[in-house]
Amino acid sequence: MEIKTVGVVGSGLMGSGIIETVARCGYNVVAREVNDEAVQGGRKRVQTSMGRGVERGKLSDAERQQAESRITWTTSLGDLSGADLVIEAIIENLDAKKDLFQELSRITRPDVIIASNTSSVSITELAAVTSRPDKVAGAHFFNPVPVMKLLELVRALQTSEETIAELRRFGEGLGKTVVVAQDTPGFIVNYLLVPYLLDAVRMVENGVASKEDIDAAIHLGLNHPMGPLTLLDFVGIDTTLYIADVMYEVFRDSKYAAPPLLRKMVAAGYMGRKSGRGFYDYSKS
Ligand code: 3HC
Repeated sequence: MEIKTVGVVGSGLMGSGIIETVARCGYNVVAREVNDEAVQGGRKRVQTSMGRGVERGKLSDAERQQAESRITWTTSLGDLSGADLVIEAIIENLDAKKDLFQELSRITRPDVIIASNTSSVSITELAAVTSRPDKVAGAHFFNPVPVMKLLELVRALQTSEETIAELRRFGEGLGKTVVVAQDTPGFIVNYLLVPYLLDAVRMVENGVASKEDIDAAIHLGLNHPMGPLTLLDFVGIDTTLYIADVMYEVFRDSKYAAPPLLRKMVAAGYMGRKSGRGFYDYSKS
């Protein structure tokens, strides 16, 4: 079945990047948010990012306008009834995602694949609440989605080979390199990334070095584009804490245990770049 219209649920940091990327590749997108204010926020994120793309010469102004015109914003889930593929990118909460997957499997055609951009929730559990568990998989993008070349597909116990093949074709069509992981917390990237980020926080807690020096050491000593504390601010302190908690819950391995500082930062509202403050201060940028 040819994919023409893609439904994207959620337009936060990841959802807006997915909406932009998919629209720029010529698909019609139905972007769903919970209320008008959230729609405005999502639309603004997409516009700002595409504007940056135009400034950097990645797309022309005409291409930007065409991409924008392919996006239909809505607050009604029912508007996804005509979608040929749905990608979910709402908050990392198992119950919220389960409710949504149940609804989506009622609203969309039975042959439609429903993919989740989750970085931690079990795809197998999401598949189980739908009417088509073989057509549910993970499609984990990376931030910033228009720039990052990887798409990690996640195979639930129930996912069919056809579903993975279809998503692989779709992902490659977006210009991404596709890798496939089993449904294990963290998949490939976060399995390795999360313990590293948590260790960086423990280094700050233990006074091993300043946050600036830890970041400079990794940036310049390993040629990573960002040091771990800058990356934590970029990904979101709350998101990282949530992923770590899910991984700890499943593996019961201390390497996934969130350091107290991370939990305190979330309690204080220091969520990283998106809230204006994390390990660093972004209030003036
Ligand atoms: N469309 C297309 N291209 C765009 C764009 C857009 N909307 N916005 C920016 N770009 C391009 C720029 O033109 C530039 O391309 P060039 O190198 O060819 O000139 C490139 O993207 C970099 O953009 P900038 O110059 O604005 O910014 P930087 O050079 O400072 O790079 C960064 C920014 C790409 C974010 C870089 O710092 C980086 O790679 N950081 C690490 C990101 C990372 O690790 N992400 C993964 C996080 S983990 C995750 O997402 C998983 C989750 O589950 C936790």
